Amino acid sequence: MKKLMAANWKMYKLREEAGAVAADLAARLAGVLPEDREVLVIPPFTALEAVGQAIAGAPGLALGGQNFYPSAQGAFTGEIAPEMLLDAGCRYALAGHSERRHILGEDDAMVGRKVAFGLASGLSMILCVGEKVEERQGGQLESVLARQLTAGLAEVAADVSPAALAIAYEPVWAIGTGLTAGPEEVAGAHAVVRAFLVDRFGPTGSKIRILYGGSVKPGNAGQLLGIDNVDGVLVGGASLLAESFAAIVTA
Ligand code: PGA
Repeated sequence: MKKLMAANWKMYKLREEAGAVAADLAARLAGVLPEDREVLVIPPFTALEAVGQAIAGAPGLALGGQNFYPSAQGAFTGEIAPEMLLDAGCRYALAGHSERRHILGEDDAMVGRKVAFGLASGLSMILCVGEKVEERQGGQLESVLARQLTAGLAEVAADVSPAALAIAYEPVWAIGTGLTAGPEEVAGAHAVVRAFLVDRFGPTGSKIRILYGGSVKPGNAGQLLGIDNVDGVLVGGASLLAESFAAIVTA
């Protein structure tokens, strides 16, 4: 399975800038994207079309959505359906990002509904999990990950295709703070996630990608990608510039 290198642009960039950065990224990666890497750009909804056009035809680059509501359509003001993301060219979507859990108040049950509904709709899903600093300090790393994974994957079929599901381990204390988890912390948490996946899905669980996220930068990406069970990265701040994200992708 290729390493999945994902850029989460959060609530940054108007259409023109988004399209220009995506085009710059595609140009920088043309001919140099390593065979074992797959690149995903996850812009705000309003920039999906511009980014989709900019990366159309670029081998190895795909488009993703940051969020959706788990229903096909309906009276859900302010929400967007998986089919709308697919219609805009998305192949992937995130669920359970820590900002949605902790700022927007999304609970484990809603995250689980999104993962299941997104998969059923034909999106590949990236389920984000991760502990807060006080949970880590309180020795709750394993129990928090187990709770988030159990709920997040509750309705996922045992025969899910490993290409359609990824987990992003993002310690909340490392997101946007400049603090990166150390190699032992990353290896330990990813081993917990891997053991859960193998227990839940059998041999398929060893093929589901586990991404690391939290202050990934050009200077630490290579080391992170060399750690056992790190099958890609989910990058926020350092993905906003084509130069730094291209350096991460090729690290
Ligand atoms: P960061 O964000 O790279 O800015 O820490 C990561 C994320 O939230 O996915």
